[in-house]
Amino acid sequence: MIGSLMMCVGVVVLLFGMLAGIAMGIQHDFTLGPAHAHLNLVGGVLLFLFGFYYRLVPAAGTMLLARIQGWLHIVGGILFPAGVAGVLLRGPAFEAAPIVGSLMVVVAMALFTVVVFRTSRA
Ligand code: HEM
Repeated sequence: MIGSLMMCVGVVVLLFGMLAGIAMGIQHDFTLGPAHAHLNLVGGVLLFLFGFYYRLVPAAGTMLLARIQGWLHIVGGILFPAGVAGVLLRGPAFEAAPIVGSLMVVVAMALFTVVVFRTSRA
């Protein structure tokens, strides 16, 4: 089920994001702070929350729209912060990645809005 997958990916992303935060602190180098923040919040917390809704409301979790939304957010939620990190470390040559990643998560958010409106009374 897509909800379970999203929750599992979400906790792994958060674990990685927290370890990256500790690494930043140890090195006293906060260059990747924005990438860390977006990975944890968009890639981790949001993904987990969406997945939790799908588990809580099975009528939502079994929709085809939910599967499309989930995969879009999984890929976009990782590509976006990875792209932010690329731009911060290597410059504008990497700009396409955060642009595509952020558009993916915005589309995923729009799909999730439709899912919630269709199933909030389920
Ligand atoms: C073990 C856990 C974590 C550690 C050690 C950690 C560490 C850090 C460090 C070192 C910074 C940079 C601070 C600076 O720029 O002065 C930072 C920024 C930030 N972190 Fe974390 N973090 C952790 C977990 C999280 C989680 C779970 C979230 C969100 C769900 C989060 C969200 C943020 C945000 C929003 C910023 C600000 C980024 C910015 O100003 O560009 N962090 N964190």
